[in-house]
Amino acid sequence: MDVVIASDYEDLSRRAAGVLADLALARPDAVVSLATGETPLGMYRVLIGWVESRRVDLSRLRFFMLDDYYGVAQDDRRSFYRWLQQAIFEPAGVPRHHVYPLPTTDADPVAACAAYEEAIAAAGGIDLQLLGIGANGHLGFNEPGSPAASPTRLVDLTETTLESNARYWGTGPEDVPRQAITMGLGTILRARRHLLLASGAAKAEILARALEEQITEEAPASLLRQCAAVTIIADRAAASRLRRTAVVE
Ligand code: GLP
Repeated sequence: MDVVIASDYEDLSRRAAGVLADLALARPDAVVSLATGETPLGMYRVLIGWVESRRVDLSRLRFFMLDDYYGVAQDDRRSFYRWLQQAIFEPAGVPRHHVYPLPTTDADPVAACAAYEEAIAAAGGIDLQLLGIGANGHLGFNEPGSPAASPTRLVDLTETTLESNARYWGTGPEDVPRQAITMGLGTILRARRHLLLASGAAKAEILARALEEQITEEAPASLLRQCAAVTIIADRAAASRLRRTAVVE
């Protein structure tokens, strides 16, 4: 596991963009899963700039959604699919048929989630999984206590997550859907490479817990320590509570 400390959010964003750009240059049709949330927005802005200056081409990559709200259509303002379309896919010229959406409105989520897993396998598996970290250590929408081998499934969101995600739309937690479809921890952990981004003092405590305390399903991000190729990029504020982790500046 490499833990890279970025000097600030801009530095974090550039370094993270470099990881995806390097993959796209080496394997233009690689399979990638991107995260929503505020943390990767700077990375996406850097990538869009590089696409516009023709330094990188993301249009042949294939993407799988990490998580999304259940019962929310793709054109809903709360849809993570729509979020990523606007934040990266459309401006970076990724065709819609290269983005595999989660079954957020399917009446039979169990069968649809099984089909999602099959689609990932048919694509050859995830080459690069980008992740943020939830305030409670969740990965995607795998809340604390999610089984390490869990597949893509319908989940109930915790009050912590409802409250922390209400900020995305400037509303209260009552406007945040209470259920989501998420790639499972098993699905996420099977990716060949992981890139986790953490920015800001609000992530310092959970990042230290995930990296320096027990590996446990109660802190899903801690399970990444069992994976073969993990890069964590944290800015100084998010890394401020790390005591024992060897870091690269
Ligand atoms: C959200 C999403 C995650 C995201 C995380 C961190 O709830 N489900 O995919 O990575 O929480 O979000 P942010 O980057 O806004 O802190």
